[in-house]
Amino acid sequence: MVGEALARVAVLLSGRGSNFLSLHAAMERGEIPARVVVVVSNKSKAAGLAKAVELGIPAITIPRQRSTSQQHDQRVLEVLRQHSVEWVCLAGYMRLLSPSFVAAFPRRILNIHPSLLPSFPGLEAQRQALQHGVRVSGCTVHLVDEGLDSGPVVVQKAVAIEDDDTESSLAARILDQEHRAYPEALHRLLTQEWAVEGRRIQWRGGYVGRVSGP
Ligand code: GRF
Repeated sequence: MVGEALARVAVLLSGRGSNFLSLHAAMERGEIPARVVVVVSNKSKAAGLAKAVELGIPAITIPRQRSTSQQHDQRVLEVLRQHSVEWVCLAGYMRLLSPSFVAAFPRRILNIHPSLLPSFPGLEAQRQALQHGVRVSGCTVHLVDEGLDSGPVVVQKAVAIEDDDTESSLAARILDQEHRAYPEALHRLLTQEWAVEGRRIQWRGGYVGRVSGP
């Protein structure tokens, strides 16, 4: 990796920003050959934006307001172009991307979701898992396509569900795993050769390395 340029990553978020921070921290530790060049949110009060400001990373709000979804996405794309972004990491970004957004970064948009997809896509994944009564849930990092939480899986981490779990206790244990899964997924995509065959990501040359996580 020495001497290679760092991939320019945008993080899109709508809230807390803990996954943004775990990615950023892994980059700062030199574990991912990338840096976050801009953080974009549709919510001006997102805590993740304030954290970006503290870290000196450009933090930009693009509210949806009265724009159409398409217009909003075009404004976000403009900002990403201004920052010469190469990869987009969705981290609690509460909007479905329009097809033209997805097409602007083919196989270069990642999302993290708090369930083992394809189980429990959409909102309140942890509640869905508890209500369904599954004994194992977890998190998934996947490439983004035009569907909802539906693109090829990059990394998954399983979390056992305990009898006394509540939505928040389960969410907290899944979040711990998210903070490991997202850096690991981006690391793999940036350092290994891979191709998408059908729905599967095929990794060439075996597994290269693991990031330590928080
Ligand atoms: C995470 O649970 C993530 O899986 C989901 O939204 C939440 C974002 O959390 N997509 P944070 O803002 O990264 O702390």
